[in-house]
Amino acid sequence: MALPNKPTAELLAEPDLSKVPVQEFTYDALIVGGGMAACGAAWEIGKWLPAGSKACLVDKASLERSGAVAQGLSAINTYIGENSPSDYVRMVRNDLMGIVREDLIFDLGRHVDDSVHLFEDWGLPIWKKHGTDASKKLRDGGEPVRTGKWQIMINGESYKCIVAEAAKAALTSMGYDIHERMFIVKLLLDANKPNTIAGAVGFSVRENKIHVYKAKAIMVACGGAVNIFRPRTTDEGKGRAWYPVWNAGSTYTMCMQVGAEMTMMENRFTPSRFKDGYGPVGAWFLLFKATVTNGNGEHYVKSDAAKAELAKYTPYGQAAVTPTCLRNHLMLFEMKEGRGPIYMDTAAALNAFMDAKKAEGMNDKDLKKYWKELESEAWEDFLDMSVGQAGLWASMNIEPEKVGSEIMPTEPYMLGSHSGCCGIWVSGPDEDWVPADYKWGYNRMTTVNGLFTAGDGVGASGHKFSSGSHAEGRIAAKAMAKYIRDNASFTPTLKQTAEELKAEIYKPVTVYYENYQKTTHEMVNPNYIKPRHMMERLMKYTDEYGGGWSPYYMTNGKLLSIVMHHLQLLREDSEKMAAGSLHELMRGWENLHRIWCVEDHLRHIQFREESRYPGFYYRGDYNSVSDVDMDQGGWKCFVNSQYDPNTGEWKTFKKKLHNIIAV
Ligand code: ADX
Repeated sequence: MALPNKPTAELLAEPDLSKVPVQEFTYDALIVGGGMAACGAAWEIGKWLPAGSKACLVDKASLERSGAVAQGLSAINTYIGENSPSDYVRMVRNDLMGIVREDLIFDLGRHVDDSVHLFEDWGLPIWKKHGTDASKKLRDGGEPVRTGKWQIMINGESYKCIVAEAAKAALTSMGYDIHERMFIVKLLLDANKPNTIAGAVGFSVRENKIHVYKAKAIMVACGGAVNIFRPRTTDEGKGRAWYPVWNAGSTYTMCMQVGAEMTMMENRFTPSRFKDGYGPVGAWFLLFKATVTNGNGEHYVKSDAAKAELAKYTPYGQAAVTPTCLRNHLMLFEMKEGRGPIYMDTAAALNAFMDAKKAEGMNDKDLKKYWKELESEAWEDFLDMSVGQAGLWASMNIEPEKVGSEIMPTEPYMLGSHSGCCGIWVSGPDEDWVPADYKWGYNRMTTVNGLFTAGDGVGASGHKFSSGSHAEGRIAAKAMAKYIRDNASFTPTLKQTAEELKAEIYKPVTVYYENYQKTTHEMVNPNYIKPRHMMERLMKYTDEYGGGWSPYYMTNGKLLSIVMHHLQLLREDSEKMAAGSLHELMRGWENLHRIWCVEDHLRHIQFREESRYPGFYYRGDYNSVSDVDMDQGGWKCFVNSQYDPNTGEWKTFKKKLHNIIAV
């Protein structure tokens, strides 16, 4: 009998693992992941690979609705348009408190619009400025509705479906493969060539089968990490998070485990969101020009106390747009001073629009029509990308024109594409303006030969969002094709046999069936740990010791040493991970990925003796930002880390920062 997909009566019979088939595949290029970056790579790769090449995209879910954009979006947050890529670098640099890879950001900025133009060609509706020709495409001079300087509004509920359709069509037209519902557990290094990628192994989450892949080059783009810190949601809301709950840190962990150098893993994103529903705030701030108030109704960001707080973080605090972490910092400051809760003043924002129209002399009939438009825009923002928030508003009888809604910093996430920048240290473009230590031949290649990444995977280069991740996937795919052409004679060879890999992947199943009958309830067993319990232990430790929301994002060296100890024990216990279904098997491996990436995150916070992102996390023992260069012993530099797959040792170290674009 085979292993069932979901726990059923069949569970009572032990599955015969010898009957689980192992299929082996050999490709030139393998794309792991199915989100925006992977779809960008899928769209691009066939244009550059030599004729007759073989390629495959592997996604743990279904491409049509996988990745961070699965639920849709109401805006594209990176469209350069009338701005310049250099200004884009300046914006990202300031928002991320000065420490970024300017080469990667500039490179992205000069390419990103092409992806947005493609989305429009493929059918994505992009809002056009009132009074302009709505049918005129952006590439032909159509004028988008700008929210902020960089963002444009879309009707984006089906954004991912549209992008995935084009990706699938591009792959199938070349005769390439797509494997959906296939969870990749780990990457495999070459048996002969040191520090060179050779393959990957995974299992189907729908049927009993293992896939072993060999490939000359691999791109890993499996998103960031969610559910690594205790979420604010409890009980009936449990499972709700801002970033997609299925992002398990697989990109970071899988690349880290084969020795890829990581960068800025101390960075995290702690977004402020509409409380409990995690609804987005960008459209409210930027499109509706809403402001925030404290519990006393005061616009605290303009207060002297707020100015004094921002002055502590010069020059970042003085920028025209306050960095995202410092906006959080001000909010937390108010809350800790006892002036909570914080409200998005939706009523004032909507009424200001109405008042302006009245002042212009708009008649009552048109005013009513205008109000309907405003109201639908407000709701659509949620319906396009965070439908749960719309449900919450409806169930709470919220009328945004009458009352404000609470906003609150969430639990921390790890990501490199939104307003965060943790990730992998990659080569920049091989051009003369790029410093020598930023480039080693192939754009977006990690320090492991043949291993590429994009989107959330690329570190020190945030604010790519959906469009930038797609563009970066395309950049990486083109470079990957060059690598494949340059290494045409390379034959990837694996160290492990297919049967050894299968035994390793299905071990949690074996552990489960050997032990589950020893107790009355399968969740409680001294011989194993279930994925759910692993995740809850992880979240408790990271939250309480690693600066989660419960201690107001505060940690210190001592607390970090405690959480590191707990994580070692959790990693030891993960050897006894038990899975009674395919779904649970995926959960188990996802949690192992979570543990590794959050461990590296905390290692970096421990190493960096300052609080670079106030509002995202604080070190109580080093609670300031030092903009002193590393040559003078300061922290105006990258922190990188590397795991050695041969010895099992980690190292964490400073890395030189280069300023390329003038201030
Ligand atoms: S979303 O992905 O959920 O929509 P968010 O609500 O943070 O993200 O908004 C996204 C965009 O708006 C980002 O480009 C972000 O930098 C920008 N943004 C959000 N709030 C502000 C603000 N108060 N000031 C300036 N920019 C903001």
